[in-house]
Amino acid sequence: MKSVFLTTFGCQMNKADSELSLGLLLERGYRMARDEATADVILFNTCSVRQHAEDRVYSRLSQLKAHKARRPGLVIGVLGCMAQKEGEEIFRRYPHVDMVCGTRMFDKLPELLERLRYNGGYLLAVSDEKVLSYPRQRPPRENPYQAFVTVMRGCDNYCSYCIVPYVRGSEISRPVKEIVAEAESLVHEGCKEIILLGQNINTYGKNLEKHTDLASLLRAVSKIKGLERIRFVTSHPNDMTRNVLEAMAELPKVCKHLHMPAQSGSDRILERMERGHTAQHYLELVELARKQVPDIAIASDFIVGFPGETEEDFEDTVRLMETARFQNAYIFKYSPRPGTKAAELPDNVPVEVKKERNQRLLDVQSRISLEENMKRIGQVVEVLVEGTSKSNKRRLTGRTSHNQIVVFDPPQVDSDLRGKSVKIKVAEVTSLTLFGQLIT
Ligand code: 5AD
Ligand code: SF4
Repeated sequence: MKSVFLTTFGCQMNKADSELSLGLLLERGYRMARDEATADVILFNTCSVRQHAEDRVYSRLSQLKAHKARRPGLVIGVLGCMAQKEGEEIFRRYPHVDMVCGTRMFDKLPELLERLRYNGGYLLAVSDEKVLSYPRQRPPRENPYQAFVTVMRGCDNYCSYCIVPYVRGSEISRPVKEIVAEAESLVHEGCKEIILLGQNINTYGKNLEKHTDLASLLRAVSKIKGLERIRFVTSHPNDMTRNVLEAMAELPKVCKHLHMPAQSGSDRILERMERGHTAQHYLELVELARKQVPDIAIASDFIVGFPGETEEDFEDTVRLMETARFQNAYIFKYSPRPGTKAAELPDNVPVEVKKERNQRLLDVQSRISLEENMKRIGQVVEVLVEGTSKSNKRRLTGRTSHNQIVVFDPPQVDSDLRGKSVKIKVAEVTSLTLFGQLIT
């Protein structure tokens, strides 16, 4: 029996693809290897969103050269976004890699490995095929109470900095029925929380024959008995509709958490990013969301140091952050992606300035997160328990509907509350975590 070791880089979509790939391989008789050293097949599911993510994969590939020389039968495969983007260039730079398999070929993985086994040589499998079948089999998950379900693939937005439309192709949605069936089977296996994934999930259903939308999908998934929580990511401000906010407000299972990247607070930069919205429009949406869904938590993404970003532009971003008061925000230093429109503009914000803006924005957000979390002291929050806390194995941890991490003491030393919903009274907070006591 061959063993496989798969490492995932990048976003949740990649984690979901890795699960599907592993599931297919297990179904075909592979087993999961304990580590790279003992594996017969080593796979990397890769990310191209920033240069840093690519560099990490290249460095891992370099390290494997000597290992492969010692074990000629070993198969090394690069999957996903970098595979799609770089293609055979990967073989040129790393001749010890055997297989390069793009973002729309995951379901062919067992056949591809089989072909390699019999024919040897190099195998390049990148295609722009539109249709993808979605196998249901899944490998054991670290947290069996939570699962990703990919509802659509690709993106048609073409923000000027982003590689996703090039590596993941144009948007395609899965039919509601298929998604509900997959979610049902997960719930049947004990899953309590489903995270619906799409690069631009608010346009879900746009290209399906039978017209539907995200709000209808949320309603359909909500009907599944035994399912407790539904999340969905990622929302684009341009496609955010009143319908979705109404569904969030109306459906108790849908978590009151919205991940809606703003990217910048400067209209000049937003225009160069080709985002299609202004800072004002974004802030109006935040206001509308808070009006329609009371106590909603909003998270955002920002890019600092985009070509031509001046100190004034950056100040506008700080101002937007101060006004919107996000629960949390992910902040990235701009990284030019060859082939995108922005890569043709001079990357003229010095690295030091990008670093400094990154830190300043992080500091602002940390203060806001702490202030917002402090308001929760004394409140009772509902937590879906995930397991033991990483920093203290005797304590338990889980998340609220707002996607906040909560740490608390179990009632008894060995009580197993994993997968249960419990009520916690918040006593202390940091900018990232709530701490509290279990109330029975
Ligand atoms: N450079 C830096 N950050 C980027 N992102 C996307 N493309 C780039 C890039 N070229 C960020 C955006 C997006 C998140 C997933 O990654 O903020 O929302
Ligand atoms: Fe990275 Fe984007 Fe690919 Fe996800 S889709 S792995 S974020 S490049």
